[in-house]
Amino acid sequence: MFITFEGGEGAGKSTQIRLLAARLEALGRKVCLTREPGGAPEAEALRELLIHGGTDRWSPEAEALLNYAARDAHLRQTIRPALARGEVVLCDRFMDSTRAYQAYAGGADMGLVDALERAILGPTRPHLTLVFDLDPALGLARAQARGGADRFERKGLAFHERLREGFIAIAAADKKRCVRLDASRSIDAIAAEIASIVEVRL
Ligand code: TMP
Repeated sequence: MFITFEGGEGAGKSTQIRLLAARLEALGRKVCLTREPGGAPEAEALRELLIHGGTDRWSPEAEALLNYAARDAHLRQTIRPALARGEVVLCDRFMDSTRAYQAYAGGADMGLVDALERAILGPTRPHLTLVFDLDPALGLARAQARGGADRFERKGLAFHERLREGFIAIAAADKKRCVRLDASRSIDAIAAEIASIVEVRL
């Protein structure tokens, strides 16, 4: 099973993905915990180029291409082999981040993202996507409190408002795969909801 965690900055995805991994391992499942951009050596090298430097360093189209170059390596080297071994793959961000950050918020052509999905993902799609929804003013404050802001965190509130709308639209368009979570609640409340959603699907 392939589960992805999506949403804006500071929404608590990384905390929750670790909690779910520990819970599944305690149930005897083998878990592959990974992230994007990254999750394979070449993909981690591209991550460095994507998240550092000036906000206008890359156009949204170039960001989409770089993220898909990283995703291609990640799929080949990490995700598909783990799925073939029967592991549960938990991925912190995946295809929906490109659609939300580069197309909805950044303005890249949706058709470009559609074409990249078809060419690079093929049939390897998440079975379940948890979309963390949070007021971006709150999320950005949380993200900044935990350390210096990366390129995307510095893109301004209007960008992050469009990003939130993008994730909401993505979740609404694919209700079979996506579940939208209210990320303003306590860590325990969110973890309990995720555990019940995942246990039903497993
Ligand atoms: P992280 O902060 O969640 O580790 O993710 C790194 C940044 O990369 C985050 O600001 C979101 C951004 N990103 C994109 O813009 N497009 C993508 O396809 C992915 C996977 C991440």
